Amino acid sequence: MELELRTESVEKTTLPALAVFAFKDDPPRSGTAAFLPSQTQELLGQLKSSGELTGKTFECVLLHRPQGLASERLLVVGAGKQEKFSGALERQLAGAATRFLRSRGIHEFGWVLGQTEGDAPSAQSAAEGALLADFDIESYRTDTDKEPKRAISRVVLFARKGIDKKAVQEQITRGRVIGEARNWARQLVNEPSNNLTPTILAQKAEAMATSHGLKVEVFGPKKIQALKMGAFYSVAQGSEEPPQLIVVKYEPEGAPETPVIGLIGKGVTFDSGGISIKPADSMHEMKTDMAGAATMLAVMQVIAQLKPRLRVTAVVPATENLPSGKAQKPGDIQVSMSGKTIEILNTDAEGRLLLADALTYARQLGCTHLVDAATLTGAVMVALGHITTGVFGWNQEWVDKVLDAARQAGEKFWQMPLDDEYRPQYKSVIADLANTGGRYGGAITAAMFVGEFAEGTPWTHLDIAGTRWTNKEKPYMAKGATGVGVPTLTRLLMNLGK
Ligand code: BES
Ligand code: MN
Ligand code: ZN
Repeated sequence: MELELRTESVEKTTLPALAVFAFKDDPPRSGTAAFLPSQTQELLGQLKSSGELTGKTFECVLLHRPQGLASERLLVVGAGKQEKFSGALERQLAGAATRFLRSRGIHEFGWVLGQTEGDAPSAQSAAEGALLADFDIESYRTDTDKEPKRAISRVVLFARKGIDKKAVQEQITRGRVIGEARNWARQLVNEPSNNLTPTILAQKAEAMATSHGLKVEVFGPKKIQALKMGAFYSVAQGSEEPPQLIVVKYEPEGAPETPVIGLIGKGVTFDSGGISIKPADSMHEMKTDMAGAATMLAVMQVIAQLKPRLRVTAVVPATENLPSGKAQKPGDIQVSMSGKTIEILNTDAEGRLLLADALTYARQLGCTHLVDAATLTGAVMVALGHITTGVFGWNQEWVDKVLDAARQAGEKFWQMPLDDEYRPQYKSVIADLANTGGRYGGAITAAMFVGEFAEGTPWTHLDIAGTRWTNKEKPYMAKGATGVGVPTLTRLLMNLGK
C-alpha cells in the first residue's frame, strides 16, 4: 500500500473517493468534515436533517459527485461522541474507511488528517489503521480466482498547509512499520499448524531477522537439552516435530550497556493439551497458541527499522504440545533450567513450562528487564473477555511503564493482582512447584508460576489468550489474528530508547 502525504487543498484533488470523519453532535462541521468546503458541509447538513447522517461510530455514508469537491465520491465515517475521541479510534476510523471503500471496488482514496501532534498523531494512526484494515486471512480456497482482488493500493493523506512535513512523514513511516509488522504477526497466527511447525516458525524468524539486519540464533532439541531446559523440553518430547529455541538480538551501536530488555514469546504452534487432552470443539483454535511469539518477533522487526537506542533480546521457545507414547504424563516431575523442580499436574498447562526456562535463559543472556507475551490461560478470557489484555507483575515501576505505553499506543491493557496468598495454590507435596493452581484465579496463579522464574528481575507478563484473536469481523479489522501488543511494546521500547 502506497501512503502519500499532500498539503494541497482537499477540494481540488480528483480521487475516486475522499474520506473524512465526523462527530455525533454536529457531523457536517466536526472532526475532519470541518475541513470540507462550505458547499459540501451544506449538503451534509441536509443529510443530517433527513436522518441519513448521524455521526454514530463507524456509520459510513457514501455520496457520489459531492457538491464542492472534485473527487468522485465522499465518504463520511461516524466518529461518535467527541469527548470519547482518541488516537486508537482514529486508527479504527481510517480502517473502517479502508474496508468500506475496498468492499465497493475502490482501490485509492484520500483521507483527511486531524491533529498532527501529541501521543497518537493523526498521520501515524491513519497509516497504521489503513494497513491493518487492508489485511485479510490468507485464503486456501480454490474457488476465489474469478473474484477481483479487493485491496487498497494507495491512500493520499491530506494535511494542512504549514505543517512540519518531515515530522508528519516520520509519523507515517512509524504507522507503516508498525502496521506491516503487525500484519506479518497476524499472518503467522492465522497459519494452520501443519504449515507453521516450530521449524517453519524458526525459519521465518531467521528470514525476518536477516533481512532486517538483526542477529539471530536457532537451537534445536539437542542444544535445548544440553542447556538443561527440562521444563521446555518436557512439552516438546511428545511431538515428532523438533522444538526450536529462537533468539533474536537488536544491539545498536552506541546504545548503553544496560538496560537490556528481554522479550519472551510463547511459541506453541499447536496445543492439543497433551495427555490432558483438550475437548475437540474448539481445539483447532490452538493453532494460535504461538501468538506471543509472533508479537515479540514482530516487535523486533519494528525496532530494527525505528531504531531506538536500546538493547533488546527476544527469546522464543517454540514447540508443539501433543499426546504420544513419548509425551509427558500427569504426575511426572521435571527439572527446569533454574534447578527448580516441577510436578506436572496437567500437561495442558504447558505455556508456563516453556516460559519458565525461557525466562531463566533470558536472564542468563544478561536481560535486566523482562516482558513476556503468552496465550497462557482460558481464565484470563473469563476475566477480561476478548477486549482487554491482562497485565501482571510484581515490580510496579516496570508494570507501569508497560501500562503507560499501552495507553499511549491505544491498546486496552489492564493490570490484574498478584499476591503471596495465592502461592499455596501451586505448591506441590513432591516438588518445588506444581504446574497448575486450580480453577479459581487461574490467570493469576499461572502468571505467578512464570514470575517465580524471573527471580527478582523486573518482569511484566501479558496474557493475550483473549485478545490474540477476534471471532467477529470488525468494521476496521478482518476476523482472525489481531497482532495484539505490537503497538504497546514498540511504544515501550521507543520510550526507553529515546
Ligand atoms: N493455550 C492455552 C490457553 C488458551 C485457552 C489460549 C484459550 C487461548 C484460548 C493454555 O496452554 C492452556 O491450555 N491453559 C489451561 C491451563 C489449565 C490446564 C491450568 C487453561 O486455561 O485451561
Ligand atoms: Mn495448554
Ligand atoms: Zn497453550
